[in-house]
Amino acid sequence: MDDGCEDYGSASYWESRYTSNSGSDSGRGHSWYFTYPELSPLLVPLMEGGGDVLEIGCGDMPLGPGIAGEGIVRGKVICTDISKSVIEEMKKESGTIGEVEYVVDDATSMIFEDGSFHLIVDKGTLDALLSTPKSGITISRKVIGEMSRCLKVGGSIVIVSHLNAAAGDEGMEWVQDVVVEALMEFGGRWRIKCHISENDFDCGEESEISPGPAVYVITRLRGSGRFEQASEYKIPFDFVEH
Ligand SMILES: C[S@@+](CC[C@H](N)C(=O)[O-])C[C@H]1O[C@@H](n2cnc3c(N)ncnc32)[C@H](O)[C@@H]1O
Repeated sequence: MDDGCEDYGSASYWESRYTSNSGSDSGRGHSWYFTYPELSPLLVPLMEGGGDVLEIGCGDMPLGPGIAGEGIVRGKVICTDISKSVIEEMKKESGTIGEVEYVVDDATSMIFEDGSFHLIVDKGTLDALLSTPKSGITISRKVIGEMSRCLKVGGSIVIVSHLNAAAGDEGMEWVQDVVVEALMEFGGRWRIKCHISENDFDCGEESEISPGPAVYVITRLRGSGRFEQASEYKIPFDFVEH
């Protein structure tokens, strides 16, 4: 998603992409970066013993059914997207199984109460919103602020992004300017682990080999409180190679 497509930040772009059925413009059935089976070894330990799970910007290849299918979530699995069409389509597809709730919601201003979720997952939504002309960084920080607000202490946010902090300045700058800034503004104590692949990632396009997307696991260690005041506080950040 680093092709400079400014439209990725607009809700109307996604609405028309999901309602288009033909040609290469059709956004249907495209899973960005990783599939659920590829992510499950990382996600399962984060779900264990916890409560409700939220996936934001789920699109039409949501991770929610895979998460619910593990049978270990003690609570609801909710998938949201700003596109009404894709949510309608996902509701129809899931039929009467009813394991996942699909809800239209804007990730910049979520309908959920503070501390509602044990795990919140984003795959590609922040990357899309970052391309909003002029306000991409502000909007991305707002989404991370909302994910922080809706997360329980002890829970984790998982962000899958093409902005790989191990792959050069751009990724690390994004971590600092967007992720760390938003978490520091929200407050509390956090830990960030950046999971990277030791193998090069084939983007599927001719001669495009890159280090691939990164998976950031951001854990809320403590709520806000007196520790907030320590101006020297820095969020611990580590790489984990797979
Ligand atoms: C790159 S796609 C990723 C879709 C899906 N997560 C995946 O990995 O296949 C970005 C998704 O974010 C959704 N989106 C864009 N802006 C949003 C917003 N403000 N709130 C919620 N979802 C949004 C789009 O409708 C789209 O489904």
